[in-house]
Amino acid sequence: MKEDIKKVLLDADAIQERVKEVGKEIDKHYKDREVIIITLLDGAIVFAADLIRNLAIPLRLDCLRVSSYGNSTNPETAPRILSSLKSDVYDKHVLIVDDILDTGNTLESVTKEVLSKKPASVHTCVFLDKPDRRENGFKADWSGFSIPDEFVVGYGLDYAGRYRQLPYVGTLKPSVYNL
Ligand code: PRP
Repeated sequence: MKEDIKKVLLDADAIQERVKEVGKEIDKHYKDREVIIITLLDGAIVFAADLIRNLAIPLRLDCLRVSSYGNSTNPETAPRILSSLKSDVYDKHVLIVDDILDTGNTLESVTKEVLSKKPASVHTCVFLDKPDRRENGFKADWSGFSIPDEFVVGYGLDYAGRYRQLPYVGTLKPSVYNL
């Protein structure tokens, strides 16, 4: 694992520090209102697990699986929601948590879907934001770090399903892609 990393962009301490700060901002926003946290599988589980342990507000957990896709400009490959929520979000405060905001298509679709169930509010929180990649005007309400358009792994983010367990975020050596 470690030997495949070219450069560490965000080390584990910086990540934990920032997650704590984001947690405080979220607590401040919701005060003591209960929130349903919807974690998008698989990538967001690491961030969500750390984030909720930094939240003092009452909360309940739910997860959604969204299909991976290639070219999002092709409607046939646009993100599809593959599972359903166990919670009834009607009149509830919902916080959607994802690992990375890239083109914005995933969070746009999921937000639309959640809104159709008439929640009291919907907000989004992402660990990483790549603003240069955006294909729509989507903005997260909270974001851990804004990063340049570089392929990164770790802290939930994968390459071919691997490297999600790294406690830091880094780039891969080119040799890994040629295996
Ligand atoms: C990644 C990531 C986000 C989405 C962001 O999911 O977890 O959900 O892409 O991209 P977008 O802003 O361009 O829509 P992926 O399909 O790779 O699945 P994973 O969470 O299992 O890694």
